[in-house]
Amino acid sequence: MSTKLRLGTLIFLALCALATARAQNGGKDVYTAKCQGCHGATGMADTNMGKMLKVKPVTDASVKKMNLTEMVDAVRNGMGKMQAYKGKLTDSQIKSSVEYFRTFAK
Ligand code: HEC
Repeated sequence: MSTKLRLGTLIFLALCALATARAQNGGKDVYTAKCQGCHGATGMADTNMGKMLKVKPVTDASVKKMNLTEMVDAVRNGMGKMQAYKGKLTDSQIKSSVEYFRTFAK
């Protein structure tokens, strides 16, 4: 393999890593802007809105048993007092914010 080729591979890998990091940050940005008010900075629903709407913390058994797809559907289509976000957020914004939310359960 030539040095040039190897360098190209390295740059390609670096760009991939960057894109992944950016997607995760996107989830955090969406979560902070759109979800944190009710679900809290760490998913514990410890905000005024969260308490008022009795939002369950991410550690609640009924929340923990939901998989990624079920959560994405809940956010897309709405659940209880939570509005439906389809049409307001893109599917990838919904997915990345849910993925960010799920990191609090670990
Ligand atoms: C107006 C307050 C509010 C906002 C804003 C909100 N949610 Fe919710 N969310 C709720 C309520 C109420 C439920 C119903 C279930 C419950 O009590 O936890 C819920 C349920 C969920 C669930 C199902 C699991 C669970 O906790 O019950 C997920 C996942 C979720 N929300 C993620 C999000 C994400 C991601 C966003 C931002 C895009 C968001 N929510 C914005 C209030 C809110």
